[in-house]
Amino acid sequence: MAPMYIVMLGPPGAGKGTQAKKLAEALNLVHVSTGDLFRENLKNETPLGQLAQQYMNKGELVPDDVTVAMVEERFARPDCEKGAVLDGFPRTPAQAEALESLLAKFDSDVKVVPFIKVPDDILVERLSGRWMSNSGRVYHEKYNPPLVKWIDDIDGSQLYQRDDDRPDTVRHRIEVYNEQTAPLINYYRDKGLLAEIDGTQPIEDVFQAIMESVKEG
Ligand code: AP5
Repeated sequence: MAPMYIVMLGPPGAGKGTQAKKLAEALNLVHVSTGDLFRENLKNETPLGQLAQQYMNKGELVPDDVTVAMVEERFARPDCEKGAVLDGFPRTPAQAEALESLLAKFDSDVKVVPFIKVPDDILVERLSGRWMSNSGRVYHEKYNPPLVKWIDDIDGSQLYQRDDDRPDTVRHRIEVYNEQTAPLINYYRDKGLLAEIDGTQPIEDVFQAIMESVKEG
C-alpha cells in the first residue's frame, strides 16, 4: 500500500498539534511536527536549533531551504514508511511544492488537507493558556487541563509555557500566517484536497470531523 500523508493546515493555536497527535495514533502513522523538530534541536543545542531559535523567538518562519532539508531527513527514517500526519509543514507555497517533489520519490501524494478554522480572538486565548510538557503533550489551563495544575498527567514532569506564546509574538505569528501560509488554503482547494473543519468545537468533535474528512479523502 502506498504511504498516506495528511497535511494539517490552520493558524497558530488552531489545534493542529492536538489533532495531529490523535490522528496519528488512530491511523497508526507518525506525527511529524516541524515546530517540535526545531524545539528538539534547540533543546539539544544543535546548530540547526540555534539558527531556528532566532526566527522562532520573533514569530518569523525559518527559511524554506533549512526547513525542507530537515523534513527530507525526517522522511528518510524508517518510521515514515507508512506515511505521516504533517503538522506545521508545509507553511509556504515553496514548501508545498518541495513536499510534492519529496512525496513523488515515494510514489505518493498528499491524501487530504484538514484546514482547522478558528477566529483570531480565540487563537490568542488558546495560546496564552497553553501549557506544554517536555514529552510534547499539550494542555490548556481551561479547555484541556492536566489533573494537577502545571504537572504532566503521564510522567509527572513540570509543564511550561512556550517563549513564542507571549501575546505580542502570538499576534505577529498570526500576521505571518496570514501573509505566508494562508495562500496554501487556495493552493490545496484548487487541488480538491482541502477539508474545512470548524475548529471552535470541543476537541473530540473536531477530531470526529477530521476523521470523516480522511475517510472521504
Ligand atoms: P509550531 O510549533 O508549528 O507552531 P504553530 O503553527 O504556530 O502552531 P501551534 O503549535 O502554536 O498551535 P497548534 O495549531 O498546534 O495548536 P495546539 O494543538 O497546540 O511553529 C513554531 C515556530 O517554528 C514557527 O513560528 C516558526 O518559527 C517555526 N516553524 C515551524 N514550522 C515551520 C515551517 N514549516 N517553516 C518555517 N518555520 C517553521 O492548541 C493550542 C491550545 O489550544 C492548546 O492549549 C490546546 O490544548 C488548546 N486547544 C486545542 N484544540 C482546542 C479546542 N478544540 N477547544 C479548546 N481548546 C483547544
